[in-house]
Amino acid sequence: MSDEVIAIASDHGGFEFKELLKSDLENMGYGVVDLGCHDLSSVDYPDYANKMAAALLNETATRGVLVCGSGIGISIAANRHKHVRAALVHDALTARLCRQHNNANVLVLGGRTTGIEVAKDCLKIFLDTDFEGGRHQNRIDIMS
Ligand code: RB5
Repeated sequence: MSDEVIAIASDHGGFEFKELLKSDLENMGYGVVDLGCHDLSSVDYPDYANKMAAALLNETATRGVLVCGSGIGISIAANRHKHVRAALVHDALTARLCRQHNNANVLVLGGRTTGIEVAKDCLKIFLDTDFEGGRHQNRIDIMS
């Protein structure tokens, strides 16, 4: 069990992935807030990036997971918000580094570009890896 609440959202291109990753989060004992979408109907990914940004700002969740087809559109949209550090990740190494060096608060995955087992691995690493701080904090401060 964890006290941490993770928000998760996707567009239609990431919907099936989101459902699978949501179950994974629940099985790992996290609280989960599902911000949609809720089926395969076509939607606009910036709307879901904005919902994620709001959930982090109002502290509904401490970290988040976003999925669209490639992961690109939804990460561009999420990173327009100053308090969001969304990292598009493709493997274990980038999942680890986005936490250690960038203190990413949102993991982004491509539902059409990444295999589900790789995505699950990335999710676990993202959740389990701490930020290293130090010189990396200075660099984040420059962006604030
Ligand atoms: C939706 O068809 C697709 O464009 C979207 O999921 C994403 O890949 C955009 O970057």
